[in-house]
Amino acid sequence: MYENLAIVGATGAVGRLIRQLLEERKFPYKTIKFLATKRSAGTEITFNGETHIVEEMTPESFKGIDIAIGSTPDEAAAEFAPWAVAAGCIVVDESGYWRMKEDVPLVVPEVNPEAIQNHKGIISSPNCSTTQMVVAMKPLHDAAKIKRVVVSTYQATSGAGVVGEEDLVEGAKAVLNGSDYEYKAFKHQIAFNLIPQIGGPKYEGYTSEEMKMVYETRKIFGDESIQVCPTCVRVPVTNCHSESILVETERPISAEEARELFEKADGITVVDDLGAGEYPMPKTCTGKNEVFIGRIRKDISCENGLTFWCVSDNLRKGAATNAVQIAELLVRSSAAV
Ligand SMILES: NC(=O)c1ccc[n+]([C@@H]2O[C@H](COP(=O)([O-])OP(=O)(O)OC[C@H]3O[C@@H](n4cnc5c(N)ncnc54)[C@H](OP(=O)(O)O)[C@@H]3O)[C@@H](O)[C@H]2O)c1
Repeated sequence: MYENLAIVGATGAVGRLIRQLLEERKFPYKTIKFLATKRSAGTEITFNGETHIVEEMTPESFKGIDIAIGSTPDEAAAEFAPWAVAAGCIVVDESGYWRMKEDVPLVVPEVNPEAIQNHKGIISSPNCSTTQMVVAMKPLHDAAKIKRVVVSTYQATSGAGVVGEEDLVEGAKAVLNGSDYEYKAFKHQIAFNLIPQIGGPKYEGYTSEEMKMVYETRKIFGDESIQVCPTCVRVPVTNCHSESILVETERPISAEEARELFEKADGITVVDDLGAGEYPMPKTCTGKNEVFIGRIRKDISCENGLTFWCVSDNLRKGAATNAVQIAELLVRSSAAV
């Protein structure tokens, strides 16, 4: 039984949502502790009506813990996961640090739930821009095998954490008031602007965020032949990533067939009526756990191409919801033993 939980990075943008989701979904537990840095240690968190004190994370924090859900920067994840595993705990990690390691399953429950069986103590949750894309790809891939994906992302500032959210709000106020604001999460002004760079240079002119979409997609589908060409852009939207996705499949898929496949798929909601002005938008998808799809249409430039618009709450399905779903899979698999 997995009944003792630790939430690592409990005070961050994703950590806050993980707490909320555990409450919303009535996640079963006996004890729970909330860990962060020395900065937040001592602050109070109310969870399921009880007050908890945030503790500073140390190697001893994981004694007696069964599942740790981590949403910390990569360096912290690199440090704490081995401590947790040594203490006999299973780590569900949101950071980028463990995702591509060979022994670490990278899991999206709607796509490859079976992969959790292969864990050696650590299970990773993908990057937010990858997660919504692979959920959208799954029914098309099952029906007609996707050979190639061209994706452009429109990524919200909350993807850069609490500081990213502050940068947009405070930066916008400064522009409107004609005052100065020093950006903390972004290299450039994000208010009333777009930044076509997320992450550092990584490969052949692509950024680290873009290459995550390439490598993680292949790992999740277990298919190294899928070609992915991504462009990742930060936009002045507080929450929800949007993606324009074009897929090329082995056989043609009509817009009608794609709509039916999306409608039947787990975790997807179709909102698609161009005439009525209905399609997913960050404003309508924020606070929801699903991946929303609209603007479904044939690629008029390529016989086997299909294109659509995809929006999802990056803090929820892109992060917290996916991690909590993985933890739920673990609980269900332990109950089944
Ligand atoms: N935001 C997204 O949309 C998103 C989506 C998918 C994945 N992720 C990943 O999730 C992780 C967290 O992102 P976030 O957006 O929630 O960041 P965030 O708002 O900056 O929060 C980071 C959290 O980690 C804690 N932390 C930092 N260093 C630590 C350490 N050495 N020991 C223990 N706790 C530490 C912080 O504690 P303090 O409060 O004490 O500083 C805070 O609780 C990152 O790896 C990010 O790449 C984010």
